[in-house]
Amino acid sequence: MRTQLLLFLSLSLLIAPIDAQNHACHKGSPQTSLFPFCNTSLTYEDRAKDSVSQLTLQEKVQQLVNAAVGIPRVGVPAYEWWSEALHGVSNVGPGTRFNGTVPGATSFPAVILSAASFNATLWYKMGQVVSNEARAMYDVGLAGLIYWSPNVNVFRDPRWGRGQETPGEDPLLVSRYAVKYVCGLQEVGDAGNSTGDGLNVSSCCKHYTAYDLDSWKGVD
Ligand SMILES: *[C@@H]1O[C@H](CO)[C@@H](O)[C@H](O)[C@H]1NC(C)=O
Ligand SMILES: *[C@@H]1O[C@H](CO)[C@@H](O)[C@H](O)[C@H]1NC(C)=O
Ligand SMILES: *[C@@H]1O[C@H](CO)[C@@H](O)[C@H](O)[C@H]1NC(C)=O
Ligand SMILES: *[C@@H]1O[C@H](CO)[C@@H](O)[C@H](O)[C@H]1NC(C)=O
Ligand SMILES: *[C@@H]1O[C@H](CO)[C@@H](O)[C@H](O)[C@H]1NC(C)=O
Repeated sequence: MRTQLLLFLSLSLLIAPIDAQNHACHKGSPQTSLFPFCNTSLTYEDRAKDSVSQLTLQEKVQQLVNAAVGIPRVGVPAYEWWSEALHGVSNVGPGTRFNGTVPGATSFPAVILSAASFNATLWYKMGQVVSNEARAMYDVGLAGLIYWSPNVNVFRDPRWGRGQETPGEDPLLVSRYAVKYVCGLQEVGDAGNSTGDGLNVSSCCKHYTAYDLDSWKGVD
């Protein structure tokens, strides 16, 4: 639990660096900008450890939901972790919305169709397009940096109503789709290695466990 908590909280600084740095370190009071986690000479790991060490137990627990509250004492803003981009930036998640400035985003076909192309290059390129639009929407204040995408559940039972979100029934294909889409979304290079300058947005594959298959419209 401790390790998980540390990892989760660390992610909030590593993956949402703009929030942490701009708010706590640049827009925060001169006092909060003196925290070691604002010191760009330190490693990300040390900065993450420092940020977690500044929090009380209650504050840590309050960060463990998608609608994380702000912690003004250390200059950390409220953050909505839930944005969606299964096949294009979507306003299904509360972290993303459209308005007159960005009325919509590219919507690729339902995932089960793109997966059926068996074209890994295509999956990677789609991830890149989605990533660029997501980052642009974040930059104008309309989206988050964390995307609960892709859905990597193996489609096992057609009675589950969300099969079209998934890459289908074949575990090998699902895993290949996931790798390519995540790489494109995070812009870390087609081979999965880092391009060295951080992430554009972060991909959070779902659902690790307890997803809707165990209770969908009366089907148990
Ligand atoms: C930032 O960290 C570096 C490396 O440890 C240290 O030399 C420097 O004094 C720190 N800066 C501030 C403002 O604390
Ligand atoms: C859309 O929302 C953004 C972020 O709040 C805001 O800056 C922008 O002015 C809004 N655009 C319109 C047309 O309302
Ligand atoms: C796979 O997708 C890429 C990128 O869209 C495209 O250039 C290529 O022609 C596709 N390959 C096949 C066999 O259709
Ligand atoms: C990533 O790996 C690929 C394939 O091994 C290689 O061609 C590319 O140069 C690597 N990129 C970086 C940034 O290391
Ligand atoms: C983000 O996307 C742009 C455009 O594709 C790319 O140039 C850049 O290297 C990507 N990564 C980061 C961290 O900005």
